[in-house]
Amino acid sequence: MNQEQIRKDFPQLNQGFIYFDSGSTALKPLPVIRAVEEYYKTLSTSVGRGLHRPSNLATKAYEEAHEKVRRFLNGSGDVIFTKNCTEAINIVSHGIDWKEGDKVVTTCLEHNSNLLPWLALRPKGVNVVILECSKDGSIDLKKLDDAVDEKTKVVAVIHASNVLGTIVPVEDISEIARKKGAMVLIDGAQAAPHLKVNVDALGCDFYAGSGHKMCGPSGTGFLYISKKVFDRVKPMMLGGGSATDVQLDKITFTEGPGIFEAGTPNIAGGIGLGAAVDYLERIGMNEIRKHEIELSKYLIDKLKGFDNTEIYGPDDLAKRTGVVSFNVDGMPAHRVAILLDEIGGIAIRSGNHCAFLLTHRILDQPFGTARASLYFYNTLAEVDTFINTLKDVI
Ligand SMILES: Cc1ncc(COP(=O)(O)O)c(C=O)c1O
Repeated sequence: MNQEQIRKDFPQLNQGFIYFDSGSTALKPLPVIRAVEEYYKTLSTSVGRGLHRPSNLATKAYEEAHEKVRRFLNGSGDVIFTKNCTEAINIVSHGIDWKEGDKVVTTCLEHNSNLLPWLALRPKGVNVVILECSKDGSIDLKKLDDAVDEKTKVVAVIHASNVLGTIVPVEDISEIARKKGAMVLIDGAQAAPHLKVNVDALGCDFYAGSGHKMCGPSGTGFLYISKKVFDRVKPMMLGGGSATDVQLDKITFTEGPGIFEAGTPNIAGGIGLGAAVDYLERIGMNEIRKHEIELSKYLIDKLKGFDNTEIYGPDDLAKRTGVVSFNVDGMPAHRVAILLDEIGGIAIRSGNHCAFLLTHRILDQPFGTARASLYFYNTLAEVDTFINTLKDVI
C-alpha cells in the first residue's frame, strides 16, 4: 500500500488537522469527488424514468454502482441503496409482517440504529430480547443459542462495535439463528469499510451498511437482502418507480430491488459510492486491514504507557478493528476530545456513540468514552502526534 500516494487522494488531509474520526464518517478521495462532479457536470438527469440517452447513461451508471456494492459484499442477493445504514435497518424492521408474540434477539453492543427500530416493535407485542455482552464486547454464544427459539423472527447483531472495535463472530451467530429458522440482520456500518466481507459465507439475510463510512458520499448507505427472504419484507415507502401499472382497483408493483427505492434516489451519491468501492478494491481490503492492525497496535501500545488511562475493547488485535476507545482518569471524554482539537488539531469522537446500553450498562461510563477511529489514510506519525498531544491534554 503506497500511503504517500493514497494521502494525496484525500484533499482534506491537507487542511491542517489529524482526522481520527472515520468511525463517524470517512474522508472522501478524489476519485469519489470526481465521480460525483462528473455526474453533475455531464449526466445530471434522472434514472429509470427517461428514454433519452443521458438518462440511459445515468441509469446504467447508477445500476452499475449497485452491482459494484453487491460484488464488494460477495453476495448472490440484491443490493438496495439507502441514505444511510439507519434507513437500511428501518426498511427491514418496518417491512416485516410482525405478529404478536414474535421475537427479536439483539445485544447490548448495538448502536441505536440497530436497537431502536426493534424496540419500537414492542407495542405490537414483539418480544425484544437484548443479550448482555462482556466488557470487551464478546457475546456468550450459548446464551444466544438459548435465547433464539422458534418464535424468533430476527436476530439483529452488529458486525464490529463502534465503541470497542470488537469484531463479532457473526458467522457463528448466523448459523445458530438459521438452525432455529430466524432471519439474520447484520449491522455492517463499522465492518464493511475495514474488513473483507462475504455475506454469502456469513449466511446472513440482511447486511446493512453506511456508504459514507467507506469513503462514499454523505447520504449514502445500502441494504443487502438475500434472495431467500426477499419476499418477506415489504417496502416502507411507495411512490414513483414502485408500480408498473395502476388501475382504480389493481396495482401491479415493480418486481425486484427497485421496489425499495421509491422516488428519485440520490443518484450522484450512488454513483460516488460505486467509485468508493472501486477505490477500496484498488487498494485491497486485506491491505487496509493489515495497515489498520499495525496502526491500532501502535496506538494501543503507546496508550498503555499512560498509567491514568483505561483502554477498552479486546486485547487480541485479530478481534478488533481500528476503533480505539479510552478514558483518562478524572476527565470526562468530551473534555479530552475538545482539548485534543484545541491543542493539537486532532479530531476524535467522544461520548456515548449512540450506544448507551454499552457505555452505561456494560462499561459503567456515564460520560462515555473518547474514541480514536483509524482508517487506512492515517499514519504512525499521526499516532505519535496524537500521543504527544494527549500528554499535553492530561
Ligand atoms: C455500528 C453502527 N451502526 C449504525 C450506524 C448508523 O449509521 P448511519 O449514520 O449511516 O445511519 C453507525 C454510525 O455511527 C454505527 O457505528
